[in-house]
Amino acid sequence: MAQDLTVLGLESSCDDTAAAVVRRGADGRGTILSDVVLRQDALHAAFGGVVPEIAARAHAEKIDLAVRQALAEAGLALRDCDAIAVTAGPGLIGGVLAGVMCAKGLAAASGLPLIGVNHLAGHALTPRLTDGLAFPYLMLLVSGGHCQFLRVEGPDAFTRLGGTIDDAPGEAFDKVARLLALPQPGGPAVEACAMTAEAPLRLPRPLLDRPGCDMSFSGLKTAVLRARDAAVANHGGLPRAVRANICAGFQDAVRDVLAEKSRRALARAPVAAFAVAGGVAANGVLRAALRDVARAAGVPFVAPPLALCTDNAAMIAWAGAERLVLGHRDDLTLAARPRWPLDEGATPMLGSGKRGAKA
Ligand code: KG4
Ligand code: ZN
Repeated sequence: MAQDLTVLGLESSCDDTAAAVVRRGADGRGTILSDVVLRQDALHAAFGGVVPEIAARAHAEKIDLAVRQALAEAGLALRDCDAIAVTAGPGLIGGVLAGVMCAKGLAAASGLPLIGVNHLAGHALTPRLTDGLAFPYLMLLVSGGHCQFLRVEGPDAFTRLGGTIDDAPGEAFDKVARLLALPQPGGPAVEACAMTAEAPLRLPRPLLDRPGCDMSFSGLKTAVLRARDAAVANHGGLPRAVRANICAGFQDAVRDVLAEKSRRALARAPVAAFAVAGGVAANGVLRAALRDVARAAGVPFVAPPLALCTDNAAMIAWAGAERLVLGHRDDLTLAARPRWPLDEGATPMLGSGKRGAKA
C-alpha cells in the first residue's frame, strides 16, 4: 500500500489511558502527530499496586477525553484518519474492554476500519516507528510485568526465544526497593542508591548455569531479603552504605543475567539489530551492558526514547498502521483478550511476570 496512512490509536490495558495519532508515510517512515497519556498513578498510590476495578472505571471515564485531545493536538478530525487501532489485549480485562468499546463506537460512527492490536506487538514494533528498523531484529521487552526475548520477523511474526519463569525484572526492582525502605517505583530508587556503593554484594545469577534464554528473578529478591535481615541483625539497623551495596549487588546480578541471555539470544539466529523496550530499559547500568553485548555481536543497539518504551498509544497506532498495510482489518465482533501470547506457537511459560497485567 504505497500511500500515507493516518491512524488513531487507543491504549487502556493497565493504568495509562492513552490516545495518539500516527502517520505512516508511503516510504514506511512513521511520524507521531500527537501522543496523549493520562496517568492514573494517583488513583492507585494508596493501594500499593494497580486496582483493576478502579483502573477500568477511570479508563471508561477518560478514554474519550484522551481521544479528543489526541485529535486536537494533531489538528485533525476523526474523518481525516484512515483507521482506528486499539489494544485488544493482553491486560486487565476491564481496561481493555473500555478501550475496545470506545474504538468500536468510533468505528461504527465514522465507518473507518477497526484494527485490534496486541499490546506486546505495540512494544515490539516501536523501534520501527522511532528508528525505521528493518526486520528481523531481536527485541528484549523488560518492564514491570514482562520480560521476554522476541525475534521480530514481521508486523505479525514474532518468535519467543525465552523469558522469565517467575517475576519480571521491574517487579523485582520494585520489591527490592520495598524491602530496603526505598520509594516506588523501585527501579530508579535502587539505581540511584546503587551509585553510591563501595563494595557491591555478590548475589547469585539465577539460571545462568542452564542453557537457553529463560530467566528467573524471584530468587534474587529472597537473596536481598536475607542480606537485609543479616545486616539488621549485625548492625541493629540498615546502614546507608550496606543498603547501597545490596542495591548494587542486586542490579549487577540482573545486569549479568540480562547480558548473558541477550548474548545467547543474539547467537541463535542472525538479526539486523538488538532493541529494548519497557520501563526497566531506562536503567543506565543495564542499558550500557546491553549496548556492549550488541557491539560485541556486531549489531546496532536501539533503545527508543523512554516515553515510547513505557505504555503509550503511539505504539498501538503504529502497530495498527503496520497491520493495515498487510491488509488486516477487524470488525465489530473484535474481542478483548486478557491473555494473548504474541507467539501463539510457543510453549506457555510457568509465569511471565506474576504482576502480569501490565505489559
Ligand atoms: O514499562 P513500565 O512503565 O510499566 C510496567 O511494566 O509497569 O515499567 C515500569 C517498571 C517499574 O517496575 C519500574 O521500577 C521499572 O520499570 N523501572 C526501572 C527503572 N525505571 C523504571 N527499573 C530499573 N531501573 C530503572 N532506572
Ligand atoms: Zn506495556
